[in-house]
Amino acid sequence: MNQKPLPQYPALRPRRIRQSPALRRLVRETHLSVDQLVLPLFVRSGKKVRNPIASMPGVFQLSPDELAREAIRAHALGVPAVLLFGIPDRKDDRASGAYAKNGIVQQAVRLLKKELPDLLVITDVCLCEYMSHGHCGIVHREKRGATILNDPSLKLLSRAALSHAEAGADIVAPSDMMDGRVLAIRTALDGAGFSDTPIMSYAAKFASAYYGPFREAAESAPKFGDRRSYQMDAANANEALREVALDIAEGADMVMVKPALAYLDIIHRVKTEFGYPTAAYSVSGEYSMVKAAGAKGWIDERAVTMESLLAMRRAGADILITYAATEVAGWLKNDR
Ligand code: PBG
Ligand code: ZN
Repeated sequence: MNQKPLPQYPALRPRRIRQSPALRRLVRETHLSVDQLVLPLFVRSGKKVRNPIASMPGVFQLSPDELAREAIRAHALGVPAVLLFGIPDRKDDRASGAYAKNGIVQQAVRLLKKELPDLLVITDVCLCEYMSHGHCGIVHREKRGATILNDPSLKLLSRAALSHAEAGADIVAPSDMMDGRVLAIRTALDGAGFSDTPIMSYAAKFASAYYGPFREAAESAPKFGDRRSYQMDAANANEALREVALDIAEGADMVMVKPALAYLDIIHRVKTEFGYPTAAYSVSGEYSMVKAAGAKGWIDERAVTMESLLAMRRAGADILITYAATEVAGWLKNDR
């Protein structure tokens, strides 16, 4: 090499801007704020029910009264939004509980909007928790196995989304990954006078082993097969962008990438490519890993949680969906 070495100018000292906490804060590029947090909650029927989920310490299946308490606690710390999942008393092969007028989520939405009108209530729209077989769409069984019926599932998903909006949901969030569901839901909402209800679509949802603990929490593990015919292959990033493009074309107002930590490249590309409000869903497995290692004293739970959320923000996420939202809100408050 005949290149001359760089002259050692005294000006070349990157360390200079890291000398003090105030200086570090002054030059910080990315910020975590309570305004970005969404807390997922699981609701089931009953009174004073708090069923712990073994694989997710600190997370419970809650009856509506306890759900309200949990939401009040989060909201008091500044968490602006919750994401509701329902666990019905009965499941069937039409997912009736998903769109019942007095279904568990519909009841919970009405209660939360009454108790906490300022809290944004987002509802997960899917069929798996309500289906006896645990799949996100209608299943057609044949001799050679089972197939998911995409288009008939859209009717049920639209009914579910509409019933959530009627109950007062501020945002509906379809997580099923059937093709065409954003348009079907948008059309159903508009047709019933809910043209102002936004859709946050689980646009790039990968078939992921990180959902393991959630399936215990929501009692939604598929009884046979898996979700690989409708959820995405972890190997595919371009396909994720196509999925997001379709959802936006169909009328999605916000898009989500899920899981988060193992898919930061996708978050970054989605935000850069489309510039839409982008949510990162830090899923059950991400939460459980940090909790477990933290409980063993192997990692600093709080520091790892904050670092991970910051990474999602740095990648481009505007909205952070995390089971740790209430704890994080508390930490952010104490940092002030
Ligand atoms: C179901 C659904 C899943 C999650 C949210 N909605 C799991 C799945 O597809 O089995 C995962 C959430 C988590 O793991 O925290 N439509
Ligand atoms: Zn589902």
